[in-house]
Amino acid sequence: MASDPADSSLQQAQVRVESQGRHGVMSVTHNCIKASKLKSTLGLMSYDPGYMNTAVCTSRITFIDGEKGILRYRGYPIEQLASKSSFMETAFLLLYGELPSEAQLKHFCARVYHHQTALHADIVALLQTIRHDAHCMTSVISALAAMSALHPEANPALEGQGVYSSRKTRESQMFTLLGAFPTLAAHVLLRRSGSSVPCLPAPSLATLLDPARPRAYVEHFLVLLGLGKARPGEEGPDPRVVRALDAILLAHADHELNCSTAAVRHLTSSGVDVYTAVAGATGALYGPLHGGATEAVLRMLQQIGTEERIPAFLEAVKAKEAKLMGFGHRVYKNYDPRAVLVREVAYEVFQVYGADPLIHVATALETAARSDDYFVSRKLYPNIDFYSGLVYKAIGFPLDFFPVLFTMGRMAGWLAHWEELLMGPEEEKKIVRPRQIYLGPAERAFLPIEARGHVRIAAEPERLLPSTTRARL
Ligand code: CMC
Repeated sequence: MASDPADSSLQQAQVRVESQGRHGVMSVTHNCIKASKLKSTLGLMSYDPGYMNTAVCTSRITFIDGEKGILRYRGYPIEQLASKSSFMETAFLLLYGELPSEAQLKHFCARVYHHQTALHADIVALLQTIRHDAHCMTSVISALAAMSALHPEANPALEGQGVYSSRKTRESQMFTLLGAFPTLAAHVLLRRSGSSVPCLPAPSLATLLDPARPRAYVEHFLVLLGLGKARPGEEGPDPRVVRALDAILLAHADHELNCSTAAVRHLTSSGVDVYTAVAGATGALYGPLHGGATEAVLRMLQQIGTEERIPAFLEAVKAKEAKLMGFGHRVYKNYDPRAVLVREVAYEVFQVYGADPLIHVATALETAARSDDYFVSRKLYPNIDFYSGLVYKAIGFPLDFFPVLFTMGRMAGWLAHWEELLMGPEEEKKIVRPRQIYLGPAERAFLPIEARGHVRIAAEPERLLPSTTRARL
């Protein structure tokens, strides 16, 4: 919730409530009333589709003030971290709560990089069974779920619910997931690009831990794919490209209870293992309203194609026949601070590869939308996904790989929330089980089939996004 931890005036209060002649007093803590008290005090439930106004946990990881466009990880402003830190250092911060010393960072990186050097043969074999032209997220989700089979010793279904009470066991899964993910992602992309059994180079740990390579996590990932070179024939990725991709991963690393992080907590609440939980979260992220928006923005920009077609597109959006992808946010009612960072990064990458012509469509689209009352009155601003796809495209990633890159960054946040839930207060570990308002038929007697007439099936509701949208553009 957007109450600044520094603002103590909002922490404690009481509200008097009344319903159908029943009175009660409810405590307000951190700007919230307890929904369970609504039941015990007044016999009421709260109705909140999409969890628009429901807090399901306390957290000490990420602070967002959506009205002011503020984002902080563990108290540090995202702008400072993006300019002074690295993705690995920020992952440490998210997981452990503090910035590491030099020795701590080296130890952390060594544990993570240990898993970055090879992909388990079972996962390689599994990926071979998926069509080479499947969407990259299909392969990634399947592979993450399959990793569960490689770690029976850390599976509560096999070892009991106490298995994660050991810090060593929790850390081991975190290092595995953070370390293996880029190698898994590279494998998926190489196979997607036609390589039957990709053979990935495995550098030594000493190379990865070389102090001259503070962003080896990203650098090695680009080396695996042969991407990031300023010019063909150069030995390795250009440091500007490494820095750019590292900063984008950092900007994606956490965002409090977004749909996929909420999914991690949701799945973990049932006691399932962490690999299954992050596979489920990756599924949530894949959707075009969440992490899939990166890809959807690029497809939208390609469809619009030229600046002259922007007005017609915006008319279609205002008629609710299309969506302006990469705009709007549940929490930000101001400019998403991550979008500012990513736009800067885009121009840095364009210095290496030259500007993508679609950047002109994107900036003209942003200008047009931000001067149109439809978007202004709804406080719709560019979000992180509006410019990130242009960076990925410039580096050479295909469109259906974009959400995989989002997942790579968000893995750090998911694991921080997983750890926080496991180690958090008992009342927050309850299995997630929302209620519903039943509006179906009252009890009725079963009719044998010969006694039934022709069943009237309700007509299909009117579609909000007719296929004519594409034709209009
Ligand atoms: N284009 C056009 N209209 C929009 C958009 C958009 N991108 N976003 C919101 N609106 C309108 C919406 O139609 C509604 O209008 P009305 O009041 O007339 O019904 C109003 O703005 C409020 O929107 P909402 O759908 O109630 O807002 P929400 O909080 O439920 O949805 C959102 C947030 C991100 C799903 C939505 O803004 C959206 O679909 N954006 C496009 C997809 C996108 O870029 N997603 C990436 C989000 S940032 C990365 C991440 O963390 O996932």
